[in-house]
Amino acid sequence: MDFQQLITTRHSAINFIKDFKMTEDDFKRIFEATKSAPSAYNLQYTNYLVITDEEKKERLRELNFDQYKIHTASAAIIVMGDKSGAEKFNAEKIYGPMKMLKMIDEVDYDTTMEVIEKFNADLQANPSLLTNEIMRHAGLHAMLFMLSAKNLGFDTCPMHIHNIDAVREEFSIPSNLEPVMMITIGKSVDKERPRGYRKPVGEFVQFNNY
Ligand SMILES: Cc1cc2nc3c(=O)[nH]c(=O)nc-3n(C[C@H](O)[C@H](O)[C@H](O)COP(=O)(O)O)c2cc1C
Repeated sequence: MDFQQLITTRHSAINFIKDFKMTEDDFKRIFEATKSAPSAYNLQYTNYLVITDEEKKERLRELNFDQYKIHTASAAIIVMGDKSGAEKFNAEKIYGPMKMLKMIDEVDYDTTMEVIEKFNADLQANPSLLTNEIMRHAGLHAMLFMLSAKNLGFDTCPMHIHNIDAVREEFSIPSNLEPVMMITIGKSVDKERPRGYRKPVGEFVQFNNY
């Protein structure tokens, strides 16, 4: 499928074929493509919790206004931002091997660590900055996930996530991970959501000045 086809055939699924199962390999292939998403300093803030277990999916459905498509989807996926994403420990994990392989030198490594440390200190000192940062990353990641899924023959629907505290408790989500949104995934039923009206480009894009 070429890119134009991919973006025009992706719709938010209205409903899914119940009992269509996705394999672990299906998910792996989607996530292998998704992991190429960009992130500030390549710190990779986005995490996923894939819920395939029927009982757990039903519990998630109860906590999310009983939305039927959570029941029929092969999985409901919670997209989460890692609030500790910019910490030095994570940076070392990502940049350490590059230093070892001599892809960057000692000076570049030390400078990068310093910059990231300062970046993290700013984020930790300002909760709204931190929230914006993880939301930004989760949004970019989730879109790539949905396109990767479509490219591999699966349909998705992005959704809000509700009752976050209860969801956190139900699925033992650690405190550093913030649920941002949910994606249901599976095989769409034949009925396709018509492509809703999209604003013409001139209405949402300006050049050089507002
Ligand atoms: C944050 C977010 C939450 C959404 N929540 C729902 C939802 O709860 N149920 C649903 O059917 N679609 C949901 N959608 C899908 C939108 O309705 C859909 O993207 C929009 O109508 C455009 O359709 P398209 O994605 O097929 O182009 C959501 C989309 C986003 C981005």
